[in-house]
Amino acid sequence: MASWQGMQLKLQPIIMMLVQVQVVVVVILSFSAATKAAAPTEADLKNHGCVNHCGNLSIPYPFGAKENCYLSEDFFINCSDSQPYYGDLHVTYISLDEGEVGIMNYISHDCYDLFGTPLQSNFYPWLFTANFPISSTKNKFTTIGCDTYGYLQIFDNNSFAFATGCVSSCMNMSYVPDDGSCSGIGCCQTSIPKQLSYIEVDAGSYNNHTDVSDFNPCSYAFVVEEAAFNFSKTYIQNFTEDMVPLVLDWGILDNETCDEAKRNLTSYACGDHSDCYKAEIGHGYLCKCSKGYKGNAYLSDGCKDIDECADPNLNQCVEESKCLNTPGNYTCSCPKRYHGDGKIDGTRCTADRVLVLQIVIGIAIGVLTVLVSSSWLYWIFNKRKHMKLKEKFFKQNGGLMLKQQLSRLERSTQEVVKIFTLEELKRATNNYDDNRIVGSGGFGTVYRGILADNTTVAIKKSQIMNQSQIGQFINEVVVLSQINHRNVVKLLGCCLETQVPLLVYEFITNGTLFEHIHNHFKVSLSWENRLRIAAETAGVLSYLHSAASIPIIHRDVKSTNILLDDNYTAKVSDFGASRLVPLDQDQLATVMQGTLGYLDPEYMLTNQLTEKSDVYSFGVVLVELITGKKVLSFDKPEKERSLARYFLSCMKNERLLHVTDEQIEIEGIVEELTEVANIAKRCLIVKGEERPTMKEVAMELEGLINKKMKKHPWVKIDLNGEESEHLLGGKLSGFELDCTTSCSNTTTTGYDSVRAHMMLPMDGGR
Ligand SMILES: *[C@@H]1O[C@H](CO)[C@@H](O)[C@H](O)[C@H]1NC(C)=O
Ligand SMILES: *[C@@H]1O[C@H](CO)[C@@H](O)[C@H](O)[C@H]1NC(C)=O
Ligand SMILES: *[C@@H]1O[C@H](CO)[C@@H](O)[C@H](O)[C@H]1NC(C)=O
Ligand SMILES: *[C@@H]1O[C@H](CO)[C@@H](O)[C@H](O)[C@H]1NC(C)=O
Ligand SMILES: *[C@@H]1O[C@H](CO)[C@@H](O)[C@H](O)[C@H]1NC(C)=O
Ligand SMILES: *[C@@H]1O[C@H](CO)[C@@H](O)[C@H](O)[C@H]1NC(C)=O
Ligand SMILES: *[C@@H]1O[C@H](CO)[C@@H](O)[C@H](O)[C@H]1NC(C)=O
Ligand SMILES: *[C@@H]1O[C@H](CO)[C@@H](O)[C@H](O)[C@H]1NC(C)=O
Ligand SMILES: *[C@@H]1O[C@H](CO)[C@@H](O)[C@H](O)[C@H]1NC(C)=O
Ligand SMILES: *[C@@H]1O[C@H](CO)[C@@H](O)[C@H](O)[C@H]1NC(C)=O
Ligand SMILES: *[C@@H]1O[C@H](CO)[C@@H](O)[C@H](O)[C@H]1NC(C)=O
Ligand SMILES: *[C@@H]1O[C@H](CO)[C@@H](O)[C@H](O)[C@H]1NC(C)=O
Repeated sequence: MASWQGMQLKLQPIIMMLVQVQVVVVVILSFSAATKAAAPTEADLKNHGCVNHCGNLSIPYPFGAKENCYLSEDFFINCSDSQPYYGDLHVTYISLDEGEVGIMNYISHDCYDLFGTPLQSNFYPWLFTANFPISSTKNKFTTIGCDTYGYLQIFDNNSFAFATGCVSSCMNMSYVPDDGSCSGIGCCQTSIPKQLSYIEVDAGSYNNHTDVSDFNPCSYAFVVEEAAFNFSKTYIQNFTEDMVPLVLDWGILDNETCDEAKRNLTSYACGDHSDCYKAEIGHGYLCKCSKGYKGNAYLSDGCKDIDECADPNLNQCVEESKCLNTPGNYTCSCPKRYHGDGKIDGTRCTADRVLVLQIVIGIAIGVLTVLVSSSWLYWIFNKRKHMKLKEKFFKQNGGLMLKQQLSRLERSTQEVVKIFTLEELKRATNNYDDNRIVGSGGFGTVYRGILADNTTVAIKKSQIMNQSQIGQFINEVVVLSQINHRNVVKLLGCCLETQVPLLVYEFITNGTLFEHIHNHFKVSLSWENRLRIAAETAGVLSYLHSAASIPIIHRDVKSTNILLDDNYTAKVSDFGASRLVPLDQDQLATVMQGTLGYLDPEYMLTNQLTEKSDVYSFGVVLVELITGKKVLSFDKPEKERSLARYFLSCMKNERLLHVTDEQIEIEGIVEELTEVANIAKRCLIVKGEERPTMKEVAMELEGLINKKMKKHPWVKIDLNGEESEHLLGGKLSGFELDCTTSCSNTTTTGYDSVRAHMMLPMDGGR
């Protein structure tokens, strides 16, 4: 070959360099016949015991150093010496992405001594790269020397096809540039054609370096990877490299385009998530991982998803947005209430207009919440305050004491007194409606109330209580609750939650005795009724004084405190002033209480309270029943102002019938009338000791009624009885004058006009 080459050079040395013979090169692509399924997986390679390294070089699939580890024989790397060889060529790198293999290539040189004698030549300047052609883009044909030509011959199927070359001549070193550029002086470079796989490189000299022997003994020629070769001026004198790097192209050897290759999946070499590219080798293709994936595209599971979010350089998400990795891609999501694609070069993230609205609404709701909750707290606070007040009143009104007292009583009596709540009574009285008032006075106000079970009750709202009276109030409630007498207004219960206690009584329908006596209703009371009422009242007082477990002094017996029901049954009420008399005491020093006109004059003087005070008051009521006159009449002459005194004077002067109520039919009852008048007279005795007891009075009145009952059936009315004759005495006309003659002497101090005007302060004491 060398001779053939030498001949050629000698015949047409220069012309040959300028002529480029274009030959249609048919690259024969040999295929491994081995049937290949779809691309293998990483696991497949592992199972085959494939190693992906040879020495320091990594050998990725489709290359392999062992059988079953490469795609085809074309991709076999011989690693038997722990050095990677592709055929004879030492492999330096394999690039999947670029479709390149780096190898080391020999240098062709031609040297002479100072006298032009050839020194040494190498005999292996040819290169065969089989199916992987020399990259025409990455490599350059290069010559070095100052009396030099380089000659590149290309063979096709072992026969010469065409040639190219490069010439460099320089007379001395000073012409060679210092900047290391290979620009034609001392160093010459030229491009190489595509698809070269069989070449020969020759270096030669025109004048045996005789002209330049002092500084340039050798000529060099080689194909080298352009980026890896830097010319240096010193190479003119001394270039010691044996080999230079060279780049080969490779690809999947398939006589098909990508589209065609993809159709046959059994032979298609690209794995999942990869794309097919046309390779530099002519017919054939390369595989690359799709965007968003990286790895070995020739393995079916070689292309791995890139986590763009892990590397800020790989994603475009703005800082505030959240990066989310997806298969082959990623998304940027803006925070809540922001919109935009979240990308730096996109619309980034901007706050929603809704957000502003939401903030406004949020603030509004916040303010509203604060308002509502504070008013709610205020309400709670008020309610608690109210509750505390109620509790306080309950305690102040002796609620606890009452409960204690009641708990000591027998169960049956406990049920008698009910403790009502404020709300119950409020509802019962329609919130203390004025229309419900059935009576009022110094003692307080009485309302008609209707309880939840439709029973009608009387509710008494007392005057403000003195703290010291509470114990007694409680005692009274307890004691009254125990009095179960048909002629006493029954106490149903009480309420202690208000500042003043509220008392609940049975409702008596037919008004007070006072109203009946003084003709507030059209029908006047018959004598029988008057007598019975008197007897019933006396019976009650007698019972209170003696029969009850602890004697009770009513203290305020008067016609307004005697109520009447539908059958004119007397119901004594208002024990507000009543006092319990301890058994070992028969008299009690108290603050004076009572109603003027009924008040015991002895008690007024001494302040010593005894049962006889009630006797006196009852006497006055009897007088009222007999006379139908008011106990105090300020519009009458002074002598007649006090009914009691006036009555006594009339009795003294035996003028009873003159003061008898005109409504009473006197016929047949004069005897009874006189007896009752006498009882009244005794009751009104100034000295309490001399008055009869209530028991005596009650018995006498009962006796009268019984006598009358016996008498009645056959004796009609005794019109002409002796006694009545005697009493009447035909003195009807002189009544007014005679009655008052000796009045001033019978009464003791007490009922003067000055006293009479003191009614209010005395009455208002409870
Ligand atoms: C492999 O690399 C190491 C350092 O990385 C180097 O020392 C060694 O010479 C290399 N071996 C070969 C065979 O290139
Ligand atoms: C690998 O190279 C060695 C020499 O370096 C050679 O003996 C051997 O046959 C080669 N193996 C193959 C499979 O070509
Ligand atoms: C290459 O050479 C071989 C024998 O040397 C021959 O059989 C073949 O046909 C040739 N191919 C081409 C394309 O010239
Ligand atoms: C190179 O040649 C130039 C002109 O021929 C001459 O002046 C110069 O001295 C020469 N330099 C060397 C180093 O021979
Ligand atoms: C170069 O050397 C060869 C052989 O050594 C010789 O034949 C040839 O004449 C020489 N050329 C020149 C120009 O000296
Ligand atoms: C050539 O360079 C090598 C190292 O680069 C050096 O060892 C050698 O001595 C040099 N020879 C000459 C002639 O300068
Ligand atoms: C390659 O394809 C061309 C045209 O598509 C065809 O002529 C040729 O025979 C094919 N060669 C091989 C080796 O398949
Ligand atoms: C697909 O490729 C396989 C292997 O190269 C081959 O055996 C088969 O015939 C091909 N199928 C088609 C439809 O080309
Ligand atoms: C990734 O997604 C973006 C839209 O979010 C799209 O524009 C882009 O083309 C996608 N990239 C790939 C490789 O699918
Ligand atoms: C109370 O009386 C009213 C009508 O007067 C009646 O509708 C209601 O049912 C009664 N309630 C009870 C508990 O009797
Ligand atoms: C009192 O009772 C009588 C008889 O039952 C009745 O006619 C009268 O209307 C009642 N008066 C009042 C005020 O209830
Ligand atoms: C009144 O007397 C009648 C008949 O005796 C009786 O049915 C009625 O219940 C009595 N009324 C009251 C309120 O006691």
